[in-house]
Amino acid sequence: MERKTAIFRREHFNAAHRLFVPGWTDEQNFEKFGKCSNPHYHGHNYDLEVKVTGVPDPLTGYVINLSDLSSIIQKKVLAKFDHKNLNLDTREFASLNPTAENIVFVIYEILRKELDDSLGLTVRLYETERNFVEYPA
Ligand code: NI
Repeated sequence: MERKTAIFRREHFNAAHRLFVPGWTDEQNFEKFGKCSNPHYHGHNYDLEVKVTGVPDPLTGYVINLSDLSSIIQKKVLAKFDHKNLNLDTREFASLNPTAENIVFVIYEILRKELDDSLGLTVRLYETERNFVEYPA
């Protein structure tokens, strides 16, 4: 029997953003994005859950060393986005609306490159306690 197992790591970061469509008026943006379109930005406390799946190595018993996974997330994701204004300070969201849907996809793409192809990856991002997204669906 294949012992496929899921490993989770939870991380946290703070970031500011503004959701808007550049061609729209402030009123149109407010209608679509509500408070998240505030032209002067606002912050969120994002919780990030990274799920890695695979078969434990027969020798080590690990799917992935969690301290390696944590350090990849720290260096590749948190160093880039923590305490940043996503719209102004990051290349990734200079012209991509920083919705939770887009942020989770960007984070997935970053982490996917760092993990062995044999491992599965799912990323979940909580923008608030009650609003969260997951990629891939
Ligand atoms: Ni917001």
